[in-house]
Formats: sequence, structure tokens, C-alpha cells
Amino acid sequence: MDSSRFLIIGAYGQLGKALQERFPKAIAVDRDGLDITNAAALEAFDWSKVDVVLNAAAYTNVDGAEKPEGRVAAWQINAQAVANLARVATKRDLTMVHVSSEYVFDGTKVPHTEDEPVSPLGVYAQTKAAGDIVVGAVPKHYVARVSWLIGDGPNFVRTMMGLAAKNISPKVVNDQVGRLTFTKTLVDGIEKLLESKSGYGIYNLSNGGEPADWAEITRAIFGELGRDDLTVTGISTKEYFQDKPEAAPRPLQSAMDLSKIEAEGVKPRDWRQDLAEYIKNETRAR
Ligand SMILES: NC(=O)c1ccc[n+]([C@@H]2O[C@H](COP(=O)([O-])OP(=O)(O)OC[C@H]3O[C@@H](n4cnc5c(N)ncnc54)[C@H](OP(=O)(O)O)[C@@H]3O)[C@@H](O)[C@H]2O)c1
Repeated sequence: MDSSRFLIIGAYGQLGKALQERFPKAIAVDRDGLDITNAAALEAFDWSKVDVVLNAAAYTNVDGAEKPEGRVAAWQINAQAVANLARVATKRDLTMVHVSSEYVFDGTKVPHTEDEPVSPLGVYAQTKAAGDIVVGAVPKHYVARVSWLIGDGPNFVRTMMGLAAKNISPKVVNDQVGRLTFTKTLVDGIEKLLESKSGYGIYNLSNGGEPADWAEITRAIFGELGRDDLTVTGISTKEYFQDKPEAAPRPLQSAMDLSKIEAEGVKPRDWRQDLAEYIKNETRAR
């Protein structure tokens, strides 16, 4: 699709890089190019070349958001800046694509549907919920709800690959259940929503396949690496975070219902399939 009138904000994060790869003609800006917390900079930006704003910028340090400075930054970037962008999108009749998280839920319901009322636990989650609410007021908007994002950047799969390289048999949480979302799958979904001019609103957009807990995912990672010699010991969230009182609370159930995005003609690939491909590429790149 013609992406020459797309603007990618936060273009060098995990999602931003995947969007740039998919939409090479899009205008791409990092924080230096456009800091969305700066309302004056947003007003001054040349919007005459833009029809679609893809917001990949966010404060994503879930535990950092529980600290005093992190709390301020998270609210600024995930809520205030999103309101700044929403104002511009509304005023200029732009389509705003925003990305959210299943962390907006407390994780007691399974699976999460798009119409579940938000019930965020930690500060990051609260700020993401606030952002969703603000974007909901933009006439032309898509909110893609994502769980456990994996792309080109620091993420769980890379962390576990690092442990395997050091021959470490880790203890991994086994009571948080969900699905990974590979940026490729997320971008497929976003492209389809824009291409088919789907109804505006929220769409759950993770990979498909059987939901799994983090320990199971780690076993799958080690399996792909041919490192079945490493042992993964399951541990409860409560036990894991016992000596980390500053850590953010996490929802136990992260799996999302995907029927709404599937009805748009998107068939999210099994997370195991994308994981195998991701690890193959990562191993090749090392
Ligand atoms: N990571 C996950 O597991 C996960 C799970 C569910 C949902 N999500 C959501 O998915 C989206 C993409 O996440 P991600 O993992 O790709 O994030 P990421 O890798 O942390 O990238 C975020 C990007 O936003 C930029 N940014 C931060 N503040 C900015 C500002 N004020 N103005 C402009 N750019 C700014 C950052 O630039 P700097 O490097 O300069 O700070 C960074 O490049 C986010 O909305 C996130 O909440 C993520």
C-alpha cells in the first residue's frame, strides 16, 4: 500500500523498526525528530504531508514506571503525549494508529475481549489505559492491543537466548499465561486494518496458537536453540517477585480473544512458528 503519507513516531523502538521495514516510504521520526511530550513541537510539525500517524512511541519500562521519575515519564509519554497527538489527529482529520497492551487488564478474565472494561494494576498499565481512552475520542483511530512484544530490541526471547549462551538453567515464572506478539505479525495486522479500511476502534492483535506460560515459552526457546540440556524450573509470580518489592504487579492471564481481528481477514500465525523463524534469524545474525 502507498505509505508515503504515513508518519512513524518512535521509529527506532522494536515496533518502530518493524513499521519502517514494512512502510519504507513513510516519514520516520525518533524522539529528536519529534518529541510527542512537547505540545509546541507537535503543533509546529509539518502535518501537510501526513494522513496516517503510527504511534510506536511509548514508555515501556514496566518496573521503572513504579519509581518516582519513571512514574512521571510514563504518564507524560503514554498519556499526556498521546492526548497531544490525539488533538492533532482530530484537528487535522488524520487516522491515528496507536498500540496498547493487555496490561490494561488485571488478568482475572480469560480471554480478554476488546470490550472488557480496563482494570490496570501497575503504573505503566494505568498510563496505557489512559492513552487508550484518549485515543478512543479520535474520530479515525485504531488501537492495537498487544501482549509480550518481540522484535528488534531488548525482549524476553533475547534475554533467554543470552542465558542459554551462558549455559544458565533459569527459574522462570509459570503462572502468567499468554501469547507472544512478534512485531511482524503486529505489522501485518496494522497493515490489514488500514488497507481494508476496517471499522475504527480497538483490535486485539497478538500471535495465535495455544497460550503458554513464561516457563513453557522458555522451553520452546531452548528447544529451538537445540539446548534441551538446560533445565527450566517453574516458579510462581509471587515467589519470583518476593525479593523485588519495587517490581510492578503483572496480570496472570494475558491471552486475548482474536476473533475480531480474524473477522477482518487476519489469521495471526502461531507464536511457535514465528518464534522458530525469529530464533533462526537471530542465530544467523550473531
Ligand atoms: N514491549 C512489550 O512487551 C509490549 C507489550 C505490550 C504492548 N507494548 C506496546 O507496544 C508499543 C511498542 O513497544 P516497543 O517494545 O516497540 O517499545 P520500545 O522498543 O521501548 O520503543 C519505544 C520508542 O518510543 C520512543 N519514545 C519514547 N518517548 C518518546 C517521546 N516522548 N517522543 C517520541 N518518541 C519517544 C523511544 O525512544 P528513546 O529510545 O529515545 O526513548 C523508543 O524508540 C508500545 O505502545 C508499548 O506500550 C509493548
